[in-house]
Amino acid sequence: MNTGILALGTYAPERVMTNAEFESFLETSDEWIQSRTGIKERRISAADEYSSTMAFKAVQNLIHRHGEKVLEDVDLVIVATNTPDALFPATACLVQEKFGLKAGAFDLLAGCPGWGYAIAQAHASVKAGLARKVLAIGAEALTKIMDWKDRSTAVLFGDGSGAAVIGPVPEGYGFKSFVLGSDGSGAGQLAMGCLNPRFPDGSPMPKSVYMNGREVFKFAVRVMNSSALEAIEKAGLKPTDIRFFVPHQANARIIEAARERLNLPPEQVWVNVDRYGNTSTASMPIALQEALDAGQIHDGDHILFVTFGAGLTWAASVLTWWNPPTATNLLEQGDRA
Ligand code: UT7
Repeated sequence: MNTGILALGTYAPERVMTNAEFESFLETSDEWIQSRTGIKERRISAADEYSSTMAFKAVQNLIHRHGEKVLEDVDLVIVATNTPDALFPATACLVQEKFGLKAGAFDLLAGCPGWGYAIAQAHASVKAGLARKVLAIGAEALTKIMDWKDRSTAVLFGDGSGAAVIGPVPEGYGFKSFVLGSDGSGAGQLAMGCLNPRFPDGSPMPKSVYMNGREVFKFAVRVMNSSALEAIEKAGLKPTDIRFFVPHQANARIIEAARERLNLPPEQVWVNVDRYGNTSTASMPIALQEALDAGQIHDGDHILFVTFGAGLTWAASVLTWWNPPTATNLLEQGDRA
């Protein structure tokens, strides 16, 4: 038995903030932001929208697309987030309660690769018999923790969420490999403090979101390539076997560098950082959903996911896509799962 994605749903807040809006209160420009990052606009959560509320909406979208039954047998809820509603309880418990699931629930913190880590934990939990299905969510209210006076970070991030049900798929389909990595020597390159004012080496912990953009950029370009190649090899495939690339959406230049090194044509990569900015753990599920909606991914395609971020961490995975039943074809054909 192998596992794959049985259902997917996403959400992005209504409010769109353009680059031009930053020009009124920061020393920046639409031209700078677009040329350095590819970002044109991002979504901003409403005052009463948090990671939990955005997670709920992604799950509601998933139900709308695939039908209520898809949540049956979900034994575990994982919410990957860097912006939980509270230190405790876990945001995942709020999701469990909202949908009346009889399931374990925990939050997962691994920087932007959180959802990449969550799908790996989901896969492992199902394979080990700990859960029949797992709800793996990425949800972020990053704009609520930004320092709006810091032009080097404020312009980069946005809010959103994505939810996937991971469970058994037919023979030949599903996750073929996972690569999870970390390098804590780069912990200070992208950080926001909470309780401890210092790192273990005595250096100060930043009080608000801090990023050494140049260093994270270099790390990202390096690790996107190495982890992608490792995941492809572990899957027993060659780079030319990859039919579609769903990368973490942090910077269009980073995605472009990865695409070129993998020798993939532009039409085999999904890029939406221009419309959402960096939504961290939500970025890959949102990109995957858009690529599916655009008809870019077909049954049996080998898909590559690669993501990187605070920790420093990275995650890569190869998935052979299985077309899960949607609410419409469930009605037409009966349940295939
Ligand atoms: O999910 C993981 C999270 N993060 C990332 O993936 C981000 C990785 N890093 C990046 O995407 C890029 O490094 C940035 C977009 C953050 C910056 O682009 P860059 O080409 O690496 O620029 P830089 O950091 O080398 O800065 C160039 C200049 C600096 O001025 P000086 O020192 O050359 O005078 C910055 O102060 O641009 C300045 N700058 C800005 N100027 C206008 C930084 N932010 C802005 C801004 N508007 N918003």
